[in-house]
Amino acid sequence: MFLANVSLFDFRNYAELELALERSATVFFGGNAQGKTNLLEAVALSALTHSPRTQQAAELVRFGQPAARVTCGVQSDAGLKELEVRVSISPTAPSRASRRFTLNGIPKRSADMMGSLRVVLFWPDDLQLVKGPGEGRRRFLNTLLSQIDPDHARELTRYGRLLEQRNALLRAIREGRQPVEGLDYWTDALAESGAAIMVERQRRLLELQPIAAAFHRELSDDRERLDLRYRPAGVRIGEAPQELVSEQLKLAMRDARDEEIGRGQTAVGPQRDDIEVWLDDHEARLFASQGQQRSAVLSLKLAELHYLAEVTGEQPVLLLDDVMSELDPARRERLLAALQPGPQALITAADLNDLPKSILERATVFRVEQGAIHA
Ligand SMILES: Nc1ncnc2c1ncn2[C@@H]1O[C@H](COP(=O)(O)OP(=O)(O)OP(=O)(O)O)[C@@H](O)[C@H]1O
Ligand SMILES: [Mg+2]
Repeated sequence: MFLANVSLFDFRNYAELELALERSATVFFGGNAQGKTNLLEAVALSALTHSPRTQQAAELVRFGQPAARVTCGVQSDAGLKELEVRVSISPTAPSRASRRFTLNGIPKRSADMMGSLRVVLFWPDDLQLVKGPGEGRRRFLNTLLSQIDPDHARELTRYGRLLEQRNALLRAIREGRQPVEGLDYWTDALAESGAAIMVERQRRLLELQPIAAAFHRELSDDRERLDLRYRPAGVRIGEAPQELVSEQLKLAMRDARDEEIGRGQTAVGPQRDDIEVWLDDHEARLFASQGQQRSAVLSLKLAELHYLAEVTGEQPVLLLDDVMSELDPARRERLLAALQPGPQALITAADLNDLPKSILERATVFRVEQGAIHA
């Protein structure tokens, strides 16, 4: 698939933008704070329904304006699609905003938008993917799985709601506002949804693992073996069918009941999962050097790109925000090689000198300045 055009209205520092894109590579360069990341963020918002850099949708609306709009025209095997996201500031609470989505003019729920535009975003924050907290790795997996299968996105939404309701009930029980008997219903519902998510995570990680390992082997000149290990919170999955995982979750929640009520929080389930990255016999989060982490992160990102293309049969759009300057020449070359046959790429750089000649020769280059884009 490829992004044929993007239009923005009062999004971040863009008052109005109409941009047509080429199928190959496009480079956006310009000084700091001009709007390079904002543009990629708008594309990611259309693809993923939320911004990768903020949970607060209100921040996306241009200062002082009531609403923002992002429209993306996407050409894929299924034809041309128009995705639109509107973010409107709440008239009563200016720090809050609602998001509304349409696909070809028809209103959609957020999970139903997934898969219409698939992206792989790679930006400096991703360098924390190996060293940082589990939340980043869960998000990596959620994004990948939801883009492959919108049902997974729907299950994650459902799980998130159930979790919120169950946690609210735990707090109400702690404060004596609700009887403990009501908990079983929510435990069962949460366990069933959680098990569906965990079994899918396990299955997909097993498929992703050899791809990431192959990239890492190459980046480390055959010296290191990368392993991804799924650590589901509170259960053992192995080959267990979903019903068994669900039973394990229910049991674990019943065992932890007093603790859960005390904390007002659910103790087990996919919100606590981790994905461990191992290099040979050591966990990378704890022991990897800077260079090893960078290679491991790059391997994960290349695996994401490769796997997404393989299972969906279509190349996703690659969004590279300021990462070339973070990579040494060897890793840069590997990343560029992944661009050679295939995906459309939108690449930002503060300085064109950070980009290899081979990219610049075949890319369309735009200069970004104060929320405007110039040829
Ligand atoms: N809601 C908003 N309304 C108006 N301007 C905003 C809003 N949110 C962010 N900005 C501004 O957008 C500007 C550009 O941000 P962006 O992150 O795109 O910069 P950049 O070109 O990627 O810079 P860098 O090279 O430093 O990464 C910043 O000056 C920021 O203050
Ligand atoms: Mg930036």
